Amino acid sequence: MLLAAEAAAVNAYEKPIVTRKSIQPEDGLLVTQNLTKRFDDRLVLDSVCMAIEEGKTTVIIGPSGCGKTVFIKHLIVLERPTEGQIFFKGHRIDALDERQLAKIRTRFGFCFQMSALFDSLTVYENITFPVQQHYKAVNYKPLDELVKQKLALVGMDGFQNHYPASLSGGQKKRVALARAIALNPEVILYDEPTTGLDPITSDVINELIIKLQKELKITSIVVTHDMKSAYKIADRIVMLYNGRIIADGNAEQIRNHPHDIVQQFIYGRVGEAELAALRLGGTRFETQFTPEDFE
Ligand SMILES: Nc1ncnc2c1ncn2[C@@H]1O[C@H](COP(=O)(O)OP(=O)(O)OP(=O)(O)O)[C@@H](O)[C@H]1O
Ligand SMILES: [Mg+2]
Repeated sequence: MLLAAEAAAVNAYEKPIVTRKSIQPEDGLLVTQNLTKRFDDRLVLDSVCMAIEEGKTTVIIGPSGCGKTVFIKHLIVLERPTEGQIFFKGHRIDALDERQLAKIRTRFGFCFQMSALFDSLTVYENITFPVQQHYKAVNYKPLDELVKQKLALVGMDGFQNHYPASLSGGQKKRVALARAIALNPEVILYDEPTTGLDPITSDVINELIIKLQKELKITSIVVTHDMKSAYKIADRIVMLYNGRIIADGNAEQIRNHPHDIVQQFIYGRVGEAELAALRLGGTRFETQFTPEDFE
């Protein structure tokens, strides 16, 4: 529930630049037009209009549960909109069938939240997996070269025969990144690439994202809670809140954004609504379990 003051503040942004209705399919490499998503009765994305520019890094921020992952899943139609449309290079993609989508998805790389390496496969097999899925490759020589090249890009050449269980969190993220670029994608979607990593390892990932964008001209869309990373890598930062875009600008504009909710988020301050909820919840644990309860 929003407090009245918060609701008023959000309403003041009811028509921010990016949710204008006039957005056109050719306004960006990826465009969402009035993208709305409901799960049963729950409205998660509320008429989001966004044009993502080619060759740039767009960072999406926002509180937990605000719809960031759901939003980027729509960009490759892993979720279908309840209403609205999605365009890639001016062509509508949200209505395509799975076979057509599979073809389009080869132009994307994705590093999802849990990095999702296959534990039973080696690093080599993890990286070649999308290639083999796609091209049914039987010739292993070029694959060896491809794996070497991609691992070298993320500083992990030599780890081909390791299993994910023997890698650190940062190393797993790097391998996931190598897998994401195996098919030379034009676009990479990253969902929280630095979450759970120490500051130095996070910075290695930031540098990799920048390097891939600069050297391979890849368009990057990065979901993150990590503002340090956002400021470092972003050409543009978009903030989602309650399924809507409430802020959109470069690092400087977001840092100096007048909206209280944006300021609370970027400086990690608890808002009035959360404080009220904490107060309501009391300070004592109401429910106590004893080991006998589980017998
Ligand atoms: N398949 C689904 N079915 C029902 N509800 C879903 C589904 N996927 C997501 N949701 C709901 O949509 C809302 C937005 O989820 P989403 O995963 O996009 O949040 P997020 O902004 O990525 O959060 P976090 O920062 O915690 O990852 C949540 O309330 C979530 O429970
Ligand atoms: Mg998420």
